[in-house]
Amino acid sequence: MKARITLHRDFSIGETDKRLYGSFIEHLGRAVYTGIYEAGHPQADSAGFRDDVAQLIKELDVTVVRYPGGNFVSGYNWEDGVGPLQNRPQRLNLSWNAKESNHFGTNEFAAWTKKINAEMMMAVNLGTRGAEAAGNLVEYCNFKSGSFYSDLRRSHGAEEPHGIKLWCLGNEMDGPWQICSRTAYEYGRVAAEAAKIMKWTDPSIELVACGSSFAGMPTFGDWEITVLDHVYDHVDYISLHTYFANRENDIPNFLGRSLEMDKFIKTVAGICDLVKLKKKSKKTINLSFDEWNVWYHSNEADKKIEKWQEAPPLLEDIYTMADALAAGCMLITLLKNADRVKIACLAQLVNVIAPIMTEENGRAWRQTIFYPFKQASVYGRGTVLCCPVTTNTYDSKEFSGIPYLEAVAVHNYMKNEIVIFAVSRNLNEAINLEADIAGFNVTEIIEHSVLCNKDLNASNSSLEEKVQPAVQQGGKLEKNTLIASIPPASWNMIRLKSAA
Ligand code: AHR
Repeated sequence: MKARITLHRDFSIGETDKRLYGSFIEHLGRAVYTGIYEAGHPQADSAGFRDDVAQLIKELDVTVVRYPGGNFVSGYNWEDGVGPLQNRPQRLNLSWNAKESNHFGTNEFAAWTKKINAEMMMAVNLGTRGAEAAGNLVEYCNFKSGSFYSDLRRSHGAEEPHGIKLWCLGNEMDGPWQICSRTAYEYGRVAAEAAKIMKWTDPSIELVACGSSFAGMPTFGDWEITVLDHVYDHVDYISLHTYFANRENDIPNFLGRSLEMDKFIKTVAGICDLVKLKKKSKKTINLSFDEWNVWYHSNEADKKIEKWQEAPPLLEDIYTMADALAAGCMLITLLKNADRVKIACLAQLVNVIAPIMTEENGRAWRQTIFYPFKQASVYGRGTVLCCPVTTNTYDSKEFSGIPYLEAVAVHNYMKNEIVIFAVSRNLNEAINLEADIAGFNVTEIIEHSVLCNKDLNASNSSLEEKVQPAVQQGGKLEKNTLIASIPPASWNMIRLKSAA
């Protein structure tokens, strides 16, 4: 099978926002406790943050971390998580039927994000709470001093403000599973009022309004129109969430799901522009894809977990090679929409549907999905090039016209590199890729890295990495064409050097 793409500097989609490579830590399962934070672990620092985990997160070059939820935030009193540890209340985490010690809270999160060199993306509770508590939290975090909440922060040992720029106005407020879910009208009203107070407290912040929990919600579309009607002038982004599942073990169909994600993005961008037109606004609302991943392996196990434990092992999906391909297709889809998607969070980061797993008092290790994210995050920064793929397509149970090759390229002009990311959905034969690179003065192939395993159910563990990238030889430059062989069912990164 053959595939052809053309890369030219005159045909670009847009610049990557560095926050495209974000992730997410929720008070859920073992994400915080025994994940990023485990006082007494041999590799914990003096604050209890695990160095081994921080090292792996730095390897991923995660730029922004959303916190503290997710569903958890809709029942969270942020005041429970600040101040002396002995005064922090043990609460019920009603979203996840667990106990919450509150030993990790806002100031610990701020200190931890410094350690991993990431920005914070803070969510406020618009479920059980509202505009006032949200405004107080902005004052606590961002106001310098001389007000009740800023001085409270200082009295808790955080002299300098945390300067959190990015804030989420609640989480999945359309979902019946959400603590105090709301109608679009109710949410739009409270979000607009919270946004006003938050921005009056710190005008430099950016706000994300909740879009639909996923494209299959019965209110999808109407929700966005109504919410944006209320919040348009006050917010900067609207959120999108998507999790893929492969319950029927139908890999061709599973790998086609990224087409659905692309449609979701384009539809929400269209709705934002429709409301813009309706309001005769000059402002464009961009997209925050602040939860995306594969999630289904742990669903049955989670039903059997005893309630009201502290840090129960919830949502501990062990990812396969097939999942790495699906995650790769999702990353490529985000990049192909870089003109509108400015923020994206791989949900989540540690232990909970995560690229990094930990053992309590033991090792930390990389899941299969770690590698596509790492390569895109480290090398996929710059100008995203428009590179339509000409190749064969197939139909699956739910989708038609799925290209066998999914691909995108990024021109990193700082490093003089053009980086192609590609997933082969052809499970049986290699694809001969020809990339027309006449638009660049390419001097060499720096590397062709491939992630594949004949067993699409292969996964990693703390003892063995069965799925990890390897160097693929044989690529060549012929006149103005790159020729490379893309193995069946593989994730690929091809880095080309170009003359300045
Ligand atoms: O990431 C797990 C959960 O998925 C989040 O808490 C919620 O926002 C979504 O439904």
